[in-house]
Amino acid sequence: MAGTSGMNGRNVLVTGGTGGIGKATAVGLAALGARVGITGRERGRAEAAAADIRAASGNPAVDVFTADMSSQAQVRQLAGEVLDAYPRLDVLINNVGGFWAHRHETVDGLEHTFALNHLAPFLLTHLLLDRLTASAPARVVTVSSGAHATGRIDFDDLQGSATYSGQRAYNASKLANIMFTYELARRLDGSGVTATVLHPGVVRTNFGAEDRYDSNLIMFDLFIF
Ligand SMILES: NC(=O)c1ccc[n+]([C@@H]2O[C@H](COP(=O)([O-])OP(=O)(O)OC[C@H]3O[C@@H](n4cnc5c(N)ncnc54)[C@H](OP(=O)(O)O)[C@@H]3O)[C@@H](O)[C@H]2O)c1
Repeated sequence: MAGTSGMNGRNVLVTGGTGGIGKATAVGLAALGARVGITGRERGRAEAAAADIRAASGNPAVDVFTADMSSQAQVRQLAGEVLDAYPRLDVLINNVGGFWAHRHETVDGLEHTFALNHLAPFLLTHLLLDRLTASAPARVVTVSSGAHATGRIDFDDLQGSATYSGQRAYNASKLANIMFTYELARRLDGSGVTATVLHPGVVRTNFGAEDRYDSNLIMFDLFIF
C-alpha cells in the first residue's frame, strides 16, 4: 500500500521513468503516496515500467507519457499532455539523460547529447513553469553528474561540429544542468518553487548502452565520482 506522507495528493513528473534511476525514483515517490507520471520513448516499455512501479509501490496512480525528448516538438507535445493531465504539478524531476560515444544529430539538427541532456530539460521546465508556480510550494529537480567537474562549455562549438568527444559532450551537458539550475533557482527566489540539482552516485543502469566506445576505454566520470 502507498504510504501516508506529505506526498499524498501531489503530482510528480519523472522524465525517463522506464528504467534506471528514474524508475527507482518513481517507485519511491509512488510509495510515498504521490501520483507519478513517467516518460519514455516507447509506449509498450513505458506501460510495462508503470505496471512494475504500481506493483512495487502499491500505488495504482502511475501515468504514462511518451516522447522522444531529443525532439523539441515532442517535448512541447509532452508538456501539453502533462498540462492537460495534471491541474497541479508539484514536482518535476528532469532525469532523462545519457552518454553517446559518437556524434549524432537530432531531428532538429542539433548535437544529440547537448539536445537531450540540456536543451530538453531546459525547454520542458520552461513550458511547465507556470503550472509549477501556480502549485507552489513546488520543486524542479534536475539529475546532473559528478562528471560536471571536468565539464567545459565551448560556446564557439556548442554542437561539437569542429571536434567531438562523447565524454566531453556528456561532461559539458552535465555542467549545463548545474548552471541552468543555479540560474533557475535565482529567478524563482521567493516564488515558492525551488530548483535543485544532484549527482546520483554511480548506479548500475542502462546508462551508455545505446552507443558505447568501440574499445575498452572506460567512461571515467562513472568511476572517479
Ligand atoms: N547511472 C549512473 O551511474 C549515473 C551517474 C551520474 C549521473 N547519471 C544521470 O542519471 C540520469 C538517469 O540515468 P540512468 O543511469 O538511469 O540511465 P538509463 O538507465 O539509461 O535510463 C535513461 C532513461 O531515459 C530515457 N531516455 C533515454 N533517451 C531518451 C530520449 N531520447 N527521450 C526520452 N527518454 C529517453 C530512457 O527511457 P526509454 O529508453 O524507455 O525511452 C530511460 O527511462 C541521467 O541524466 C544520467 O546522466 C547517471
